[in-house]
Amino acid sequence: MKPIISMTNISKSFSGNKVLNDVSLDIFPGEIHALMGENGAGKSTLMKILTGIYSKDGGTIEVNGATVHFKDAKEAEHAGISVIHQELNIIPYLSVMENMFLGKQLTYGKTGILKTAAMKKETKRRLSQLGIAIEPEKTAGDLSVGHQQMVEIAKALATDAKVLIMDEPTAALTDREIETLFKVMNGLRKQGVAIVYISHRMEEIFRMCDRISVLRDGKYIGTKPIQDTTMDEIIKMMVGRELGDLFPDRDKSAGKEFLRVEDLSGPDLLENVSFSVKEGEVLGVAGLMGAGRSEIVETLFGARAKSGGKIFIEGKQVKIKNPFDAKKAGIAFVTEDRKSEGLILGMSVRKNMSLPNLKTLSNQGIISSKREKASARNFIDRLNIKTHSPEADVKNLSGGNQQKVVIGKWLGINPKILILDEPTRGVDIGAKKEIYNIINELTEQGVAIIMISSELPEVLGMSDRIMVIHEGRVARIIDKKDANQENIMQAATGGE
Ligand SMILES: Nc1ncnc2c1ncn2[C@@H]1O[C@H](COP(=O)(O)OP(=O)(O)OP(=O)(O)O)[C@@H](O)[C@H]1O
Ligand SMILES: [Mg+2]
Repeated sequence: MKPIISMTNISKSFSGNKVLNDVSLDIFPGEIHALMGENGAGKSTLMKILTGIYSKDGGTIEVNGATVHFKDAKEAEHAGISVIHQELNIIPYLSVMENMFLGKQLTYGKTGILKTAAMKKETKRRLSQLGIAIEPEKTAGDLSVGHQQMVEIAKALATDAKVLIMDEPTAALTDREIETLFKVMNGLRKQGVAIVYISHRMEEIFRMCDRISVLRDGKYIGTKPIQDTTMDEIIKMMVGRELGDLFPDRDKSAGKEFLRVEDLSGPDLLENVSFSVKEGEVLGVAGLMGAGRSEIVETLFGARAKSGGKIFIEGKQVKIKNPFDAKKAGIAFVTEDRKSEGLILGMSVRKNMSLPNLKTLSNQGIISSKREKASARNFIDRLNIKTHSPEADVKNLSGGNQQKVVIGKWLGINPKILILDEPTRGVDIGAKKEIYNIINELTEQGVAIIMISSELPEVLGMSDRIMVIHEGRVARIIDKKDANQENIMQAATGGE
């Protein structure tokens, strides 16, 4: 069989920094080909070059043996190559249907009159293939991130591509949505569609993919058929060394109760949520997407109105009406939505990291850029953030590295209580381990940590206790020693 895509010696630099160095990659029809590598390795850039979004500095791209030069994504799409991007491209003020048909509306001949009914029907059909029912007229911005992602997926599927590139499509999806997506992918594979699949989730890769290619620091490391390789080998290819145990042991046990939340309720979903966190303890929060996990911590942090409930820190009741109160009480919050809440994309890495702790970095109100720089450098090193300089704009960092900036930003305020909402989403395995190490260091300093995660291995590996949320209530709080995937899932789905 001949490859449908053949990329040879692709190189690319951004303002003098080489991010792809002689990368070659063949993709065959009917295969799901995983593209793996640490954050900043060049995966998204390579795919943007393939789809005409970025121009390459050198190398050739062939589609079915013929050399191509795509000028933009539209040309690539015409040649049968579609992409689901890592960052959502939904236009929030347009409807779901308008997003689906953006730039390719159905009209009556050349009259320009829109075939609204037909487009509505097609939108519904495509979405129902993905197992979701959304009204085509709904404003896209009002959808959950997961549903927005599903609309993007439906949009890409609607192009009937021969090559489909999926850049971390599952990061925001629920387990059920992921299962549906996998079914669709299996169907496409049977029809001979080639899929390039980018994900940091090893379990998904080993379950779904036929071959894996690895990039490291912009260089091609190798390609392995899935049955001839192991997770350890792939990790070694990605990281360049053995990683050892992913979840480091915590030798100190938790101290006395630090934070107590009693009967926290919200206007929408939350009902009498009560829990406590000890000094140096990690309380994992599990539950299905939409169960109210983020609502709980947002309410606790004062970022959402509460309709009832009390918060105690070291036994004393505290009033938290807004995030300022929360910060004053020593609470830091790494949000799940780094793009809209966590970062100012047009600002430098240094400035973003110093945002929440301008006080400690300033002298009588004047920000010390020296201190700011030193602090930024410290976190760039510790979290191994890939940026050519602390002055680089955050928007030019790879997705996972942006996540690390968010984390660095909040660690700077030396919190007493740290809330982490999906801290390792989109983060590569080496950095995951780094984040776990930092969590453990913080627990040793007595920080109380609340960690929401959709990755059960992470919840199980890192938590001392696990609070499972179901429909806005606490379904169960399970000790680490009694917890397993089954009883967490059971509680999360409302089972006994
Ligand atoms: N538009 C840009 N301008 C400048 N540098 C860029 C730009 N796009 C990407 N880069 C840099 O290129 C390198 C590769 O980034 P890329 O987004 O391809 O990584 P990735 O492998 O997709 O990582 P992740 O797993 O975090 O998504 C990074 O160092 C990034 O900072
Ligand atoms: Mg990427």
